[in-house]
Amino acid sequence: MEFRRLVDQELKDRRVFIRADLNVPLDDTGAISDDTRIRASVAGIQHCLRAGAAVMVTSHLGRPKEGELRPQDSLAPVAHRLGELLGREARLVRDWVDGNFTVNPGQVVVLENCRCNPGEKANDEGLARRMAQLCDVYVNDAFGTAHRAEATTEAMARFAPVACAGPLLCAELDALGKAVTAPRRPLVAIVAGSKVSTKLTILESLAQKVDQLIVGGGIANTFLLAQGVEIGASLAEPALVEEARSIMAAMRERGAAVPLPRDVVVATELSPAALARTVAVGAVGADDRILDFGPQTMAELGTMIAAAGTIVWNGPIGVFEHEAFAGGTRALAAAIAASGAFSIAGGGDTLAAIAKFGITERVGYISTGGGAFLEFLEGRELPAVAALRARA
Ligand code: 3PG
Repeated sequence: MEFRRLVDQELKDRRVFIRADLNVPLDDTGAISDDTRIRASVAGIQHCLRAGAAVMVTSHLGRPKEGELRPQDSLAPVAHRLGELLGREARLVRDWVDGNFTVNPGQVVVLENCRCNPGEKANDEGLARRMAQLCDVYVNDAFGTAHRAEATTEAMARFAPVACAGPLLCAELDALGKAVTAPRRPLVAIVAGSKVSTKLTILESLAQKVDQLIVGGGIANTFLLAQGVEIGASLAEPALVEEARSIMAAMRERGAAVPLPRDVVVATELSPAALARTVAVGAVGADDRILDFGPQTMAELGTMIAAAGTIVWNGPIGVFEHEAFAGGTRALAAAIAASGAFSIAGGGDTLAAIAKFGITERVGYISTGGGAFLEFLEGRELPAVAALRARA
């Protein structure tokens, strides 16, 4: 057995502690702007409630200072939304570590932002032991935080009487595992976004596995620079051109490719009123910024995607928030939606693009993980999963 699963546990009248990832984006007014992670956590909570457990659920929200709870750190809006989705009250409990609260079988409480507890981020054993005493069964259903070794994600799994994986964590590991171990080929990865530096390790690791590594956004600019292409005033990281070259060399050696754009959309400024022009790569002016890929490039990438067996997508191709620079990401989304490949996508910007272009139903699996999604694809062991495995 790899690790214990929640669905196999006896839960009646048991105290169940669920570590979920309810770290959702909030807008300037403090309202939830995307509740995907809360909705994805409902199945595990419902399962426990239906089985007659007394349910405690907690999560971090943001990166607060330990020992303080500022109003913006509170899980109050999350508890409210969770209550709506469950159709029952999800009472919020503060100062919960020592168990000074009641929760009866068939009830659920939300334990306030666990990252406000001193020792959480340092994976403190003392804190984890105190929290473990609150429950009979510890459930980790927080895939999005599985790459962090913190007291509620790692140490607690070592000290709780029973430690198991919730349905979301299981589904994520199954779907992502399918894409990395024995994927249907060709395996095409799209890694885009502003900086090579934040995605260097995933690029290096995918360069050993994928058949085509499509780079987009500012990352593509650094690769163009590495090829000696004039990129004008575009965002790029000249210090990383050597790394870009070795990724391209590693791909070439395996008979694989990093396709670079032939045409790009440029403007001298990034604003809704910017005058966007499509130009051939090689004709980018000194003041121009590359802000998207052009139609010819997208047609070529579309052919590659249509032939793919498996697609992994992280990061938008262009600055899709502005209509003038949305064409590349829109075309990519359409190509993925039309493809017969098994596709997986993850990361905040990618999920926003999927929602904007309306292809949610056409993606094989949408991960709730950002950093955890990338670390899993890199082949790194996620500490939260390792802790569950060690207990099995
Ligand atoms: C995320 O949003 O990727 C997870 O919730 C982890 O958050 P963190 O990067 O603050 O640990």
